[in-house]
Formats: sequence, structure tokens, C-alpha cells
Amino acid sequence: MSRIVYVNGEYLPEEEAKISIFDRGFLMADGVYEVTSVLDGKLVDFEGHIARLARSLRELEMASPATTEELLEIHRELVRRNRIDEGMVYLQITRGNPGDRDFVYPDPHNVPSTIVLFTQSKPGLADSPLAKTGMKVITIPDIRWGRRDIKTIQLLYPSMGKMMARHKGADDAWMVEDGAVTEGTSNNAYIVVGQTIITRELSSDILHGITRAAVLRFAAEAQMEVVERPFTVEEAKAADEAFVTSATTFVMPVVEIDGTQIGDGAPGPVSTRLREIYIEESRIDAI
Ligand code: PDD
Repeated sequence: MSRIVYVNGEYLPEEEAKISIFDRGFLMADGVYEVTSVLDGKLVDFEGHIARLARSLRELEMASPATTEELLEIHRELVRRNRIDEGMVYLQITRGNPGDRDFVYPDPHNVPSTIVLFTQSKPGLADSPLAKTGMKVITIPDIRWGRRDIKTIQLLYPSMGKMMARHKGADDAWMVEDGAVTEGTSNNAYIVVGQTIITRELSSDILHGITRAAVLRFAAEAQMEVVERPFTVEEAKAADEAFVTSATTFVMPVVEIDGTQIGDGAPGPVSTRLREIYIEESRIDAI
């Protein structure tokens, strides 16, 4: 069934939504995005995603085409019109269509940014079968650019990483720089040693995950010990547990890294508990 999507102020059937070939998102990957999950027809961590969007826009000197209130209304309207119970809302803002190809940014007063939103229905998102078995990851070098804290639409290397994982019979890839894990192709990476949760500290090396922020807050509230520091692939392989977080997977256990089984090869108690807490609390806080 065709979705209703949002493009520059209009709600349209997806077949009718059109963007110029000169859009800088298309030509230059000059754009930013957010993915907000939906549980029970409500938005999870909406404020966090919009705050990060504002930061991404600011870092790229890009104008926001809508206020927070307008963005909330558009998200809700799309969820309503597409009858999303569990799934995602994807939002993308690009530097618009200057009418030609040019490396130099166009004047934002003359060229409005392009804004697109659409929904993805994912029934069973919270009750994911993968969360019960855990996922397998491979490690690959992190050769992305140096501003991974900006959520840009330049996703070719993460796509390549997922394909490399698929070719090796794994579910995803963790990226490694100077011997330490940065993050997953589309998620933040964690290990658990004893009762301690270890995840890389925030910097321009990784995306500042909105799920990460919530999970670390819930972990602290549950008196779990959290240490924010880089960890090596060797440490990860020897860890008791491993997991990733993102808006699309919540907390997802990792049970194999480069063919090495983690712990007893099944999702561990800390990852499982954090997933439960995250989903429970997100349902309560969703708007
Ligand atoms: N990806 N790191 C990277 C590189 C990501 O692309 C993402 C999210 C995360 C987790 O961020 P959050 O918890 O805010 O979703 C970390 C989204 C889900 C995507 O590209 O589909």
C-alpha cells in the first residue's frame, strides 16, 4: 500500500513526491537526517532527535525549514495517516536546489532547504526475534570522515560495511580505528565486563546516539556501573557481553565478533535487562 509522505510542506502519496536532480542532497550528500522510532503509535525520544538535528544543521550552517512544534506535528500526522503502530519516522533536510551543480553553498535566503519525511512500518519492532538470539558482527577499519558527530546522509561506507558483514554471514560491522572500536555502521557499540558497561566516550569520532544517552541514563538509575572509554577488539572478544543501541534496534545483544563467541553465545543478562528497561521506559515517555 502506498504511503503518504511529506515533502516541502505537502502531504502526498509517495509516487507523487518529487525532488529536483539539482538537489544538493542528491548531488553532494549535503544533508542531515534523523530516525525516530514509533512505539504504540507514539514517538520515542523525539526531543533528543530534534535537538541533535538542530546541532547537525548548525554545524553545517544549514537553515531549519521548520520549528520544533511544526516538526512534531508533521511526525504525528504521518504516523496517523500511515497508521504506524511500531516503526520509524525518517526525516531528511538537505541544502536544497540551487538549480545547478556548484561546490559553494548557495545563499540560504535564495535557496530554501529541502525537507522530506516518511514512515516505515515495522510490526514486531519491540518484540524482535533477533533480540532473542543476538547478532553477529565483523570488524572493519573505520575510514569515514572526521565529523561523525554530524548525522549526515553520506552513508556509503556504512552501507559497504553492512554488505561486507553480509558476505561473511554476519549481521553488521563494528568499525575500528587505532585498535579501538568506534561504533557500529548504524549504532553505538558497548561491551560488558563483569557488571561494568563500557562504551566509547562522546567526541567527533562517533555519532552521539540518542538511544545511547537514554540507555546510559537508565543504566545509572538502575545502579549499573558505566565507564565511557574506548575499548579494543581483543577486549570485546573477551568480554562477558556485547550489545549495540540505535533508534531502529533499541538495545540489541551481540553474540559473536569476527567469529569469536561472546560469553556463552547467547544474549547476556545486562543487555537483556537494558533492552527491557529501555522499551518499558520509552513506552511511558513516548509522545
Ligand atoms: N542510525 N551511530 C551511527 C553511525 C548511526 O547511524 C546511528 C543511528 C547511531 C545510533 O543513534 P540513535 O541512537 O540516535 O539512533 C550511532 C540510524 C538509526 C540510521 O541510520 O538508520
